[in-house]
Amino acid sequence: MSSPPIHWYPGHIAKSERQLKHHLDKIDLIIEVRDARIPLATGHPHINRWLKGKQHLLVINRCDMVTTAAREAWERWFRARGQRAVWCDAKAGAGVKRVQQTAIRAGNQLNERRRNRKMRPRPVRALALGFPNVGKSTLINRLAKQKVVASARRAGVTRTLRWVRLGRELDLLDAPGILPPYLDDQQAALYLALCDDIGQAAYDGELVARAFLQLLIGSQKRDASGITISVLETRYGIPVAEKTRDPAYWLQAAAARHTSGNTTRMAQRLLDDFRKSALGSIALELPELRGA
Ligand code: G4P
Repeated sequence: MSSPPIHWYPGHIAKSERQLKHHLDKIDLIIEVRDARIPLATGHPHINRWLKGKQHLLVINRCDMVTTAAREAWERWFRARGQRAVWCDAKAGAGVKRVQQTAIRAGNQLNERRRNRKMRPRPVRALALGFPNVGKSTLINRLAKQKVVASARRAGVTRTLRWVRLGRELDLLDAPGILPPYLDDQQAALYLALCDDIGQAAYDGELVARAFLQLLIGSQKRDASGITISVLETRYGIPVAEKTRDPAYWLQAAAARHTSGNTTRMAQRLLDDFRKSALGSIALELPELRGA
C-alpha cells in the first residue's frame, strides 16, 4: 500500500502498559487473546517479556468469523510449533467453558505446588491480555456470566486495570488493550486497521478500504480464506469486471450508487460491513499467505 505508514500508540495505552508492569509479579497465568481473522498480526511481539515465569494460555477468539478450513490450517500451524490454542466465539459463548477449564487446570498445578510447600490453596490469578478489540471484555463477561467490564467494537475502550473474581478458582485482571509502540510490519498494521484494532485517526479509511478491495479481488482461489468475490456484486450491485478490478474504480462506482458519490462514506460502509461479517467469513491471514 503506497500510503503514509500506519502508526498508533496513544497515551492511554502507554500508561496502562506501565500500570500493567506493576501487577505482573502477582500473575500466575496470562490468557493471551487473539483475533481468528489475524492470529499473527494480533500477537504482541514482546509477549515473551510479559510471560516470564508464568503459564500461557493462547485463546483465539472470533472463531465464528473465519471458515473451518482457516481454523484447521491455523490449528495445524500452531500445533507444529508446539503451541495449543483454545478457539472461541466469546460473543456466542462457544469455547468459553474450555478457556475456563484450561485456566483452572493451570491453577490446579499451582495449588499442587503450594500444597507441597504447606501453603493454602488460592485462586489462580490470570491476566487477560491482547490487542484492542480482539474480544477480551466479551470473553471476561462470558467467563463471569455477567457484564463486569465494558465492551465495544472500538479500539481502546477498556482503559483501567481491574480484578474480577470468577468463581472460587479464578481471579482475572482485566487489562486494557495493548499494542507494540511501533508497528514495524505494515501489512500487519493494515490488518489491524481493517479489524478496527487501532484507532481510526491512525489511517486513511479510503486507502485501507482500497487495500481491502485489492485483497478481495486478488485472492479468488484461496478457499480457506472464505473470500467470495461475488459478494461485491450481490451486496453492492457492482461486479468486479475488467475496469472495476481497479479498487479505486470499484469504490467510485459503488459510491456513485450508494453514497451520492462520496467515496469516504462508501469506504466506511465497506469496512463496517467486513467488521460485522456482512461480507461472509473472511480470514485475512492464513499460514501460507503470511509465509509463516
Ligand atoms: P476488547 O475488550 O478486546 O477491546 O473487545 P470487546 O470484548 O469489547 O469486543 C469488541 C466487539 O467485538 C463487541 O462488539 C463484541 O460483541 C464483539 N466480539 C467479541 N468477541 C466476539 C466473537 O467471538 N465473535 C464476534 N462475532 N464478535 C465478537 P460490539 O459491536 O461493540 O457490541 P455488540 O455487538 O456486542 O453489541
